[in-house]
Amino acid sequence: MILLDGKKISTQINQGITNRIKILKENNILPSLAVILANETIESKTYVSMKQKMCEKLGIQCKIIHLIKPFNNDDILKVLSDLNKANNIHTILVQLPLPKHIDKNKILSAISPEKDVDGLNPLNSGKLFQNNNIHFIPCTVRACMELLDHYKIDIQGKHAVIVGSSILVGLPLSTCLLHRGATITLCNINTVDTKSQVNNGDIVISCCGVPRLIKKDWIKKGAIVLDVGINKINTPDGTKLVGDVDFDNVKDITSYITPVPGGIGPMTISMLIKQIVEACERNNI
Ligand code: GUN
Repeated sequence: MILLDGKKISTQINQGITNRIKILKENNILPSLAVILANETIESKTYVSMKQKMCEKLGIQCKIIHLIKPFNNDDILKVLSDLNKANNIHTILVQLPLPKHIDKNKILSAISPEKDVDGLNPLNSGKLFQNNNIHFIPCTVRACMELLDHYKIDIQGKHAVIVGSSILVGLPLSTCLLHRGATITLCNINTVDTKSQVNNGDIVISCCGVPRLIKKDWIKKGAIVLDVGINKINTPDGTKLVGDVDFDNVKDITSYITPVPGGIGPMTISMLIKQIVEACERNNI
């Protein structure tokens, strides 16, 4: 079994990007990200703070717009309209999930496609769908693809089973893997026997947010397992982060596996940084 070391690879990627940020700054461009945080969950606040810390560490300006209730669709649309117009804002990210009273589709459609760093505006989703002139893809999806590529794992002809079909991860990931020649099974909340589907996977990617759902007898011997889940669970000593995969139980039967933490998580933040820098270079140099 080989550990897919997202922490190590992301550090290397971040170091490589530092020079590109330096060049942008020499051209008087200070790369920037604006994040709209419109929910009070501890998970969202933690993710946003991790993104902010990495931006600041690498010299990217990060502006957090934390909306405090009450707010409605129009309030968010007004913030977005200002950010879309601002010359000093290169990229925009709306942290999901949004509260139930907010129309998610309306909000995502209002992010300028040139600044939509998470690739969730329908124009960018459509480009990904059609494999046409892709600029932004959801950062977690790119994290999975880059980690597979870094370890030179062949995708073509493999059967990839994805557990979870959100617009943020499972659905766009299925498209990316399909474009790379994989055969896809996309499990979702209505799948009758998820275990038997996962059992067929040469590549298994879990992004459903159920702690340690995937057990050893779900996995075909030699499969490649990517765990996108980051779940906080209670332990006798406090709390602990675990993935969707029962790592200790599963790891020895796999050929490659990501740990949680230290797998897809740090890679996702690196991909965010990479897409911010790419957007800046595309639009300014
Ligand atoms: N919520 C949890 N992860 C993410 C992410 O990567 N991007 C956005 N926009 N929302 C999230």
